[in-house]
Amino acid sequence: MKILVVGAGYVGLVTAACLSSKDNQVICVDTDPSKIARLEKGIIPIYEPGLKEVVDASIASGNLKFSDSIKNGMTKLGSDSAEVNLIFIAVGTPQGEDGSADLRYVLAAAKEIGQSLNGPAIVINKSTVPVGTADLVKGEIAWQLFQRKCFIDFDVASNPEFLKEGAAIDDFFNPDRIVIGTESETTKAQLIKLYQPYVKQASQLLTVGVKEAELIKYASNAMLATRISFMNEIANVCDRFGINVEDVRAGMGSDSRIGPAFLRPGCGYGGSCFPKDVQALVRIAQSVGVDPIVLNGVESRNKKQKQYLFEQIVAKMGKDLDGRKICVWGLAFKPDTDDMREASSIDLIRALCHAGAAVTAHDPVAKEVAEHVFADLLRNGKLKIEDDALAAAKDADAVVLVTEWAAYKQIDFKKLKATVKAPVVFDGRNHLDPAALKALGFSYAGVGRA
Ligand SMILES: NC(=O)c1ccc[n+]([C@@H]2O[C@H](COP(=O)([O-])OP(=O)(O)OC[C@H]3O[C@@H](n4cnc5c(N)ncnc54)[C@H](O)[C@@H]3O)[C@@H](O)[C@H]2O)c1
Repeated sequence: MKILVVGAGYVGLVTAACLSSKDNQVICVDTDPSKIARLEKGIIPIYEPGLKEVVDASIASGNLKFSDSIKNGMTKLGSDSAEVNLIFIAVGTPQGEDGSADLRYVLAAAKEIGQSLNGPAIVINKSTVPVGTADLVKGEIAWQLFQRKCFIDFDVASNPEFLKEGAAIDDFFNPDRIVIGTESETTKAQLIKLYQPYVKQASQLLTVGVKEAELIKYASNAMLATRISFMNEIANVCDRFGINVEDVRAGMGSDSRIGPAFLRPGCGYGGSCFPKDVQALVRIAQSVGVDPIVLNGVESRNKKQKQYLFEQIVAKMGKDLDGRKICVWGLAFKPDTDDMREASSIDLIRALCHAGAAVTAHDPVAKEVAEHVFADLLRNGKLKIEDDALAAAKDADAVVLVTEWAAYKQIDFKKLKATVKAPVVFDGRNHLDPAALKALGFSYAGVGRA
């Protein structure tokens, strides 16, 4: 099939790479010329395991090409009135000022599609968008075609993306399910044909209405965020009783009605999706007169949980951290990515620096991104980012783990003990072995771990 993917971010690039690896002809476009220039040279602008290999193979096979605009991409793709082109919209939908999804990039893409469409097409929304957005996209494209006095057949479908950063390639090739939202039998047949090679069973291709598909994405992310916030609240109860949340979690998770996934307490969720999607769903519910009591609670608990580590540190060391050196391990919002959007490390490091601490941080891959996020703190010398986890811990009064990178489990903790000033560990993800650390003489505090 001939496919245009609009947006070369996490979702767009992964979609373009994985679709082109199964013999589809794909053009991936982005308005950021530096991104396209890097991609054309084979440089992947994000850290995502396995992505480079798929991109390289698809470029080599001639199935994946890049372009700097929808118009140019559409021309490169060519049109054939007998064949329907697929156009995926995978641009950002950031949080607007009032918390709702900002659709400016989606609608700008729709406008450009309407201005450039040169043959029959199915436009597919992969971006996470509020209920009713497909209608807005359809209206914008139709308006542009009307102005051009063009009568081109097109449809708009919804196909939300569920990939996990850090495991995006595997998720694309081995999805739990693929949601196809359309009211058209022709569109449904085309998308089933496209995705057939990616599923083991036909039942994994879930076909629903467009609005249902739009809501499935928000409801899924909000459900996962709810489980995390719920467990964080339970961890706080565990703290007060001095009992171990890990035992409570294991007991709950072994109930087949509950299951173990997304029940790990920690120092709050971040990333490009959960925080903004919960907020957007709050606004979606309010827009139709539903009071989002549960969703508001999920968000409030997460905001509080992002202060958890700082409060633990202050409880142990006092409010004035002047002259104290704190080492932070992990800057990305989760392991196996360099994405720092809404990362818990940001709240913590800013709070520590504000309280007077000198912070030295480390992350296996997010250093470059962190240098942008913390440009001010790096400039005024309050923060240093080291290439080595042990070097970051040199003479530290405490080591705080924020992201559960596997590499932190492999640290030589005897060496760490000899490196730090005080053997104190705060484990914001319950990632390390408390017994082993205590045996070495560390003071250890996890989240809800007695
Ligand atoms: N990142 C994730 O893990 C994830 C997972 C599932 C769904 N989503 C959703 O997918 C969407 C995209 O997310 P992302 O993380 O890939 O965003 P991103 O910010 O990484 O990438 C978006 C890209 O779109 C480009 N762009 C914007 N307007 C354009 C236009 N008119 N033409 C061409 N390119 C344009 C931007 O330059 C950018 O490179 C969002 O709605 C997000 O909520 C993200």
